[in-house]
Formats: sequence, C-alpha cells, structure tokens
Amino acid sequence: MATGPVIEDKTFLEFHDNDIIVRSWKVEDLPTVLVLCKKFAVTQNMPTKFMTTKKLAEDGFGEHPWFHSWLAETTTSGEPITIGFAMVSLSWDMCRGLVLEGLYTDENWRKKGVARKLVKAVAEFALENSCKYIKWMSLKDNDNANSFYNKIAKLYGPVNECYVKVT
Ligand SMILES: CC(C)(COP(=O)(O)OP(=O)(O)OC[C@H]1O[C@@H](n2cnc3c(N)ncnc32)[C@H](O)[C@@H]1OP(=O)(O)O)[C@@H](O)C(=O)NCCC(=O)NCCS
Repeated sequence: MATGPVIEDKTFLEFHDNDIIVRSWKVEDLPTVLVLCKKFAVTQNMPTKFMTTKKLAEDGFGEHPWFHSWLAETTTSGEPITIGFAMVSLSWDMCRGLVLEGLYTDENWRKKGVARKLVKAVAEFALENSCKYIKWMSLKDNDNANSFYNKIAKLYGPVNECYVKVT
C-alpha cells in the first residue's frame, strides 16, 4: 500500500491561502489518516493502540461507511503535504446529522484557517446530504478547541453548546 504524504515535514516557510486544498480522503490516504488519527487521539488523551489501517479501511470504505474524512493539504513546497484532517460519523437524532469525531491541524499550521476550511467541507457535505445539524465534543480544558468552536459555530447558525444547525 502506498504511503501518504508526511505530516512531519516542517519545511514550509510561508502561508498562502490558495495553497491549501481540502479534499475527501481516498483509500491510498489510509496510512496518512492513521497518523493523523493517532496525533489527534494524543491531544484528546485517547488510547491509540486499537487504531490500524485495516480497521480504518473496514469501517471507512465498507459498503456502508461508518465515517468520512477530509484532508487539508498544502502545496507550498511542491508536493502536497497533509497538514490537517476532519472526520465525521453519521448521526440520526430524529433527523439526519453528523458528529465531528476528529479535527486536527498540524501544530505549525494552527490559526491559519486550516480547520475552518475543513469544517466548511464538512458543512457542505452536511447540506448536500440533507443533514440538519453537526455535533462536536471537546474537553472542557481544551482551550484551543473551545475558542475555535466558539468562532466557527457562529458561521453556521444557532448554537447550543456543542451543536450547530446547518440549515
Ligand atoms: C482546534 C484546532 C483544530 C484549530 O485548528 P486551526 O487550524 O488552528 O483553526 P483555524 O486557524 O481554522 O481557526 C479558525 C478560527 O478559530 C480561531 N482559533 C483557532 N484556535 C484558536 C485559539 N487557540 N485561540 C483563539 N482562537 C483560535 C482562529 O483565530 C480563527 O478565527 P479568526 O478567523 O477569526 O482568526 C487545532 O488547535 C488543533 O488541531 N488542536 C488539537 C486537536 C483538537 O483539540 N481538536 C479539536 C477537538 S475536538
């Protein structure tokens, strides 16, 4: 299986908004997504042992995928380098919705709009699929995440702590 771009590459020097691309993940991204899932899990004090590309493949690319993922890439230094990801599972709470299960931006790329772009892709996916809400969870003491969610939630409609209506 091909290995994905390496998130550890810290050679990029400057940021250009247009150099960031957000796209849906593909099978060949499995190794990259595994790395991102593990980095994300560490920030959430979650165990990572059970995560494998096999499990991601089974649950993400089966007949009825349990989750979807998007990658943020930069082409600043030529080849695309992955700098963040978002992951959602499908939810049904009397109407269709999504749960944002994972959102992660590489430390060198934070506060540059990467997660905002990822969430925009999630919101577009929600609208295309007639979802009425996106839910998220963050730890009480995760100031980065809480500041971020407070900002982006305002973009998408009425907010109820960890719930935003997308229509
Ligand atoms: C939370 C996280 C995903 C934010 O990613 P990011 O790419 O830095 O976020 P963005 O640059 O898109 O930020 C969007 C807005 O939120 C604000 N924001 C982001 N992090 C912030 C912080 N730590 N403090 C204050 N505001 C913050 C940005 O300033 C921006 O607002 P602006 O456009 O008005 O300036 C990132 O900090 C991260 O990966 N944290 C570790 C994993 C995690 O905790 N994930 C979420 C838990 S569920």
